[in-house]
Amino acid sequence: MNMSATAPLSDAMRSFIEGLPKTELHLHIEGTLEPELLFALAQRNNIELPYDTVESLRAAYAFTDLQSFLDLYYAGANVLRTEQDFYDMTAAYIAQARADQVRHAEIFFDPQTHTERGIPMATVFAGIARALRQARDEHGFSSVMIMSFLRHMSEAEAFITLEQALPLREQYADLWSAIGLDSSERGNPPEKFQRVFARCRELGFRVVAHAGEEGPAAYVSDALDLLQVERIDHGVRSEEDPALIERLIKLRMPLTVCPLSNLKLCVVDDMRQHNLARLLRAGVAVTVNSDDPAYFGGYMNANYLAVASALALSREELVQLARNGIAASFISTAEKERLSIELEQYARSH
Ligand code: ADE
Ligand code: ZN
Repeated sequence: MNMSATAPLSDAMRSFIEGLPKTELHLHIEGTLEPELLFALAQRNNIELPYDTVESLRAAYAFTDLQSFLDLYYAGANVLRTEQDFYDMTAAYIAQARADQVRHAEIFFDPQTHTERGIPMATVFAGIARALRQARDEHGFSSVMIMSFLRHMSEAEAFITLEQALPLREQYADLWSAIGLDSSERGNPPEKFQRVFARCRELGFRVVAHAGEEGPAAYVSDALDLLQVERIDHGVRSEEDPALIERLIKLRMPLTVCPLSNLKLCVVDDMRQHNLARLLRAGVAVTVNSDDPAYFGGYMNANYLAVASALALSREELVQLARNGIAASFISTAEKERLSIELEQYARSH
């Protein structure tokens, strides 16, 4: 039995997926740093890398779990020093996303990864925002910045990060409207960040959190109850609690699922075992996203193609995934309407 066999996609299905207008709601900008750019930035900033070549770095991307990835991901981020570095990384992501017909992206960034190394908060915001504004002005590519707290750090440190960022709020009001929670999930439950999330909500931020990626279904329930999030990032382990699944369906609570990430981090052993299709067919508001595409082997189209093939998704199901993305995004009703019209027109005419 050939264990790698998945239904090959027809050329027509492939081109349907490639052209489908998309939104991306779960993307870590530091996870878009391709080895080639990482090497270029290291050279520009006179940083020595423990790898001789791009190929040897890429070869190290063989992960066994979330932590084995995070160790390399944080090490890689060390090459980001200047505003131009953050700009270049973000501009490179936007080019990839636009090629994959992404119309709108909601982008996580982890300031603590940088401020811990002495990079000013303002540098991080400025570089990312300059690329996002340029993409909006030149190409109509819209985006939201989601500032995320690292959950392996303390809540007190998250409060300090919030304090450092708040003076920039007005300057970036067109982009920064949401707060997230990421990094090592196991042993760092939502309750650890209950107070800082309450403060963020009080300040008017939208809030989301990673939960149920490696951590148990209880972390998903706790993210809803204790953090009062509007979306769950990943959430694939919710299936272990049938009552939680019922709740997610009733609430139309979006899950930002990242298929290639789940495969690379061994959350699933085989894409054919991924529960995305089951969740979708049960009525959960699942979406498809790329998480850390430079590390996991693909951007949005690669993620859509992988699940379409492994799970034999229909065109209508693929369109529903894209619809779910629009509905779950943090854009205005008018912008949602505009994207929906484009999507439905595409679905009818292809
Ligand atoms: N930071 C970057 N990618 C992540 C992921 N998949 N889970 C948790 N934290 C992350
Ligand atoms: Zn993530």
